[in-house]
Amino acid sequence: MLECISSAKVGDDVFGDDNLTLKLQDQAAGILGKDAALFVPSGTMANQIALQTHTQAGDEVILESGSHIYMYEGGGYASLAGVSVKLVQGDRGIMDPVEVKNAIRPPGGLSHYPKTKLICVENTANAGGGTVYPLDVLDSITNLAVGKNLKTHLDGARVFNAAISSGIDIKRIVRDFDSVSFCLSKGLGCPVGSLLCGSYSFIKKAHRFRKMLGGGMRQTGFLAAAGIFALEKNIERLEDDHIRARKLAKSLIDFGYGICLDSVETNMVYIDVSFLNLKMEVVIEFLKKNNVLIAASSDKHLRAVMHLGINNAGLQKAIDVFQNLKTIT
Ligand SMILES: Cc1ncc(COP(=O)(O)O)c(C=O)c1O
Repeated sequence: MLECISSAKVGDDVFGDDNLTLKLQDQAAGILGKDAALFVPSGTMANQIALQTHTQAGDEVILESGSHIYMYEGGGYASLAGVSVKLVQGDRGIMDPVEVKNAIRPPGGLSHYPKTKLICVENTANAGGGTVYPLDVLDSITNLAVGKNLKTHLDGARVFNAAISSGIDIKRIVRDFDSVSFCLSKGLGCPVGSLLCGSYSFIKKAHRFRKMLGGGMRQTGFLAAAGIFALEKNIERLEDDHIRARKLAKSLIDFGYGICLDSVETNMVYIDVSFLNLKMEVVIEFLKKNNVLIAASSDKHLRAVMHLGINNAGLQKAIDVFQNLKTIT
């Protein structure tokens, strides 16, 4: 990937003449079966542009209560798109279509209600444990949206993990969504970058919001070269991350750590360390001192993420460190 970056021939993407960025966008749209794609700096910007493109200020968006858009994008839905949010509590991040239906505002109401405009689905669901939406659930939600004349956006930061884990073609997973975002960083291993995909008219409109947010970059060919490499070489190998995540989970369960094995469907393991009776700072410091870099997701949980920088030997070392962690209690 570094060789592709350093040998990239670049143009200026704000003028639309950076050929590698154009190629990456075409390639991404082709892989997802959408008309067009837009290269943006981050998954957060991709989601925020999608909200702005699909909605108008005063509309309402349906989101899962632990979703990235709701929890971790700085409240951008309110300040950038000017929308309100109706939350649906998912089961390990997966929304029940019946509850999504119940969250849609009824028409009329003497103008009391905001207008539901968009349903966002996160697949895989990060805070749910990296869980994968079953296809029938996705279909129910998108059919519901069509019936109610609503738009749908898939926050697919890790949608390739969903495809690899389920064995379902990525095109089929995203087929009925009006827009899809996915990240080149994270499991695909790029230093930076995400893509927002959709119809020609959606991407044309989105392009303007990217500019407004300052996401129009110049010599993006260096980043696009990494993205093209990742789409060609790093998708199939996500399976290795999933296998390693299961291995980590099973080993840690044997040591007494609290893990819901059913939620370990892709590359993440949420680990309840409360049985150690140690302060979270002490746990993280011990792991860090032993070269296991891991962040807390709550005062009880760590979130371990497998990626292409972790091989079997590294995984085994991490497992050994978790075993040793028990001895300091
Ligand atoms: C589901 C989901 N969507 C969006 C993002 C945002 O990506 P970025 O960090 O590139 O802004 C993340 C980041 O972790 C994520 O997990």
